[in-house]
Amino acid sequence: MSSKLLIKENHSLLTYNTFNLDTTARRFIELTNSEEIECFIQSEFANNRILILGGGSNLLLLNDFDGIVVHLSNKGIHVISESGDDVIIECSAGEICDDVVSFCVENKFYGIENLALIPGTIGAAPIQNIGAYGVEIKDILQSVEGFDLITREKRILTVSECELDYRSSIFKTNLKGRFLITKVKLRLSRKKKFHLNYRALNEKFGRRSVDIIRIEDVSSYIKKIRTEKLPDYKVLGNAGSFFKNPEVSPEELSELKNQHHDIVSFATSAGTYKIAAGWLIEECGFKGKRIGNVSCYEKQALVIVNHGGATGKEIKEYSERIQGAVKNKFGIILMPEVNII
Ligand code: FAD
Ligand code: EPU
Repeated sequence: MSSKLLIKENHSLLTYNTFNLDTTARRFIELTNSEEIECFIQSEFANNRILILGGGSNLLLLNDFDGIVVHLSNKGIHVISESGDDVIIECSAGEICDDVVSFCVENKFYGIENLALIPGTIGAAPIQNIGAYGVEIKDILQSVEGFDLITREKRILTVSECELDYRSSIFKTNLKGRFLITKVKLRLSRKKKFHLNYRALNEKFGRRSVDIIRIEDVSSYIKKIRTEKLPDYKVLGNAGSFFKNPEVSPEELSELKNQHHDIVSFATSAGTYKIAAGWLIEECGFKGKRIGNVSCYEKQALVIVNHGGATGKEIKEYSERIQGAVKNKFGIILMPEVNII
């Protein structure tokens, strides 16, 4: 069976990770369709140390990978059912997430438009429950299909079984590293409904009647905000927010406010508060501060950038300096959002 698979040896990962880190994979395999995926799952290669790779936009590779990198690039987006206002689409994991958003925007399937321009594949979207501008994939995910790499069984997990939370899921906890997502189903709506609570969106669209707001205007505006605020990884390597925004209790927030009156925080639906990690990092003097080839982006301190030629270890060391400074000044421990391999 495995003879059908094309395994590359000592394959460069430079163009497969958005930090633009020059590392290699001991072995590399590209899975482009269901047949190749099934073949891989049944093969002896599935016994190796495996790194599943989508767009490489949430990875920090510290070393060459001494196992097998499995790159998912299976394609396909299909409407599979409609009922009332609901539309269910099925996407192959290797589809580019932003192409899925564009497909929905073109077809006026509402619900995903705020996730425009997030890099990476749709298969990786449930891993950290991607989110932006008031929407998370959790809000529209119906189910996930894939293989348990240990039992080699095909499984379908409903959205509740995926245990999606802020930048977290079962794929980062109990099933960490052992579940290959091959397809996702999303539930969109034909009924016009927007999520405009994020301040910039509210300022732009909040006073307009929903009837005259168009889905393509919302997604275009999101793209504009993102392009202005976030670096282009083709120019400055990065993986988006390096850390999660820390969550604190109301009591902890008021204690912090006694010391730091202008601390930036947002209430969550769970009654806690998220502190803007970008603000904490900026207050510690890291915004735009360059050490070697690494810095925090000058327009968004939560994004660590590679100016070219940095190693994964240098980026990690820089991130640890940030963690130390934030801990000293605010008593807060920043947790990485990026997957450090
Ligand atoms: P990869 O980086 O390839 O992998 C990420 C993790 O998922 C790894 O652990 C990998 O093993 C695993 N994985 C990937 N594919 C699969 C699969 N098919 N099955 C099982 N495991 C898999 N994220 C947000 O949430 N919101 C944002 O606004 C946002 N903005 C960003 C902006 C920039 C400029 C960049 C560079 C990144 C941003 N990100 C954001 C982070 C990133 O885009 C997301 O985490 C995205 O989902 C990663 O997808 P990927 O295909 O690149 O995953
Ligand atoms: N801020 C600063 N200085 C900075 C950056 C931010 O003071 O350098 C403060 C500002 O007050 C700003 C606030 O932080 O208003 C929030 O900033 P922003 O709206 O840019 O959002 P964020 O909390 O930094 C989160 C996500 C992003 C997502 C945006 C938009 C996390 C870890 N990050 O960033 O996701 O795109 O909100 O919804 O939750 C990612 O996960 O990779 C990512 C980019």
